[in-house]
Amino acid sequence: MSDKKNKTNLCMIGTGYVGLVSGACLAEMGNRVVCVDNNIEKIKMLNKGKMPIYEEGLEELVKRNVKAGRLFFASSIKEGMFHKGHRAEAVFIAVGTPPREDGSADLSAIEKVSQEIAENMTDYTVIVEKSTVPVETCLWIEKTVSRFNKRKIPFDVCSNPEFLREGVAIEDFLKPDRIVIGVPSKKAEFVLRKVYSSLSKYPMLVTDVKSSELIKHASNSFLSTKISFINAVANICEKTGANVEDVAKGMGLDKRIGPAFLKAGIGFGGFCFPKDLEAFYWLSKQKGYDFELLKNVKEINEGQKKWMTAKVEEELWNLEGKTVAFLGLAFKPLTDDMRFAPSIDIAETLKSKGAKIRAYDPVSMENAKKVIKGIYFAKDAYDCVKGADCVCLITEWNQFAQLDFSKVLKLVKHPILIDGRNLYNPSKMREMGFTYKSVGRP
Ligand SMILES: NC(=O)c1ccc[n+]([C@@H]2O[C@H](COP(=O)([O-])OP(=O)(O)OC[C@H]3O[C@@H](n4cnc5c(N)ncnc54)[C@H](O)[C@@H]3O)[C@@H](O)[C@H]2O)c1
Repeated sequence: MSDKKNKTNLCMIGTGYVGLVSGACLAEMGNRVVCVDNNIEKIKMLNKGKMPIYEEGLEELVKRNVKAGRLFFASSIKEGMFHKGHRAEAVFIAVGTPPREDGSADLSAIEKVSQEIAENMTDYTVIVEKSTVPVETCLWIEKTVSRFNKRKIPFDVCSNPEFLREGVAIEDFLKPDRIVIGVPSKKAEFVLRKVYSSLSKYPMLVTDVKSSELIKHASNSFLSTKISFINAVANICEKTGANVEDVAKGMGLDKRIGPAFLKAGIGFGGFCFPKDLEAFYWLSKQKGYDFELLKNVKEINEGQKKWMTAKVEEELWNLEGKTVAFLGLAFKPLTDDMRFAPSIDIAETLKSKGAKIRAYDPVSMENAKKVIKGIYFAKDAYDCVKGADCVCLITEWNQFAQLDFSKVLKLVKHPILIDGRNLYNPSKMREMGFTYKSVGRP
């Protein structure tokens, strides 16, 4: 994968789920990358070879590239942009863009780093937005950089949205469906093509900066729409006795629809879909077009989280003093990310009704403890279900598919299983003696 001829000096600002994976992959592709973060603890950990996040294969990838002298860590943008005699030709911004109360994206970290980049440029620099941002953020970055660029160093602001999925992030980065770059000049395009030259067999779309910014928000909102659509269909299935799995299969065989993202469940979460959907909706209103479909997509998703609590109540009646076990907490398998995980709202609702919660997740326990208080964090899945009046499958981790259910049956107080991800076979579970409920399946 690494290609010495392709060596471009890069600085990656923000060493989170996107920045760290992107930085390590860009190094693997032959570039010399300095990953910067203002969280000193993260940089200290990385310099000791420890990963601040859970992502399959990341530790080996980071270690390999550090050893090869292609990947470095720094706690200041100044050091990242001029590192041991190497000046960064391109500076990527991969800081967080969290949602504000009103749904808009908080771009203050982008503004802050833009200023610092401006103050540390010494020669033509390509500034690349990798964070997910609303269309026209590039104009604000350009304005900010110009304001603090006292020495009038030439620069370009580009967009290069990231489409990786947590859990399979490295594979997504190194074998992408597409690379999108939005560039304002041929010079910037040349630099970004050089950065990505070792991925030349994958499709690259070169467009203007605003279109590139929009591609990311439109893509994530479309995927959220697909999930909410099938969840709405699942609700109709539940009311009519149809089976959402067969309906999704029948829909997905149509090439115009495709089978991906047609899995009914308790809704989407994570750091991307909920906030990008909100931010895109907010932006549409700002621009004088009410993209109301997106509001409905969000409402359907909120409804799915309520599905789980409604099912628990249907089975247990009053929740006061009852014990509910959560198998899984992260918003999806293979990640420790708890940001906007449906488990948070479900836990809060059940707790407010007096239920006691026992929970277990293979990797997100530490992050979960920071955002869900007053519940018991179990040692493993079997400890989790001990004495439970009802077991809820929240995240479809493979290890939950492999559970020994004869053991589970002996540990629970009542054999009630609410499957929020349609992980189990309904007839098998019922044959084993469970009262079993899943999403949109009879
Ligand atoms: N997580 C995903 O799966 C994913 C996928 C595609 C795109 N994105 C987008 O990428 C962006 C980053 O997401 P993330 O999940 O990596 O977030 P994150 O919170 O994991 O990482 C952001 C990092 O930026 C650092 N940071 C903040 N301000 C800084 C500053 N002034 N100087 C240096 N470092 C600073 C933080 O300390 C943190 O480590 C967001 O816009 C997100 O929407 C995320």
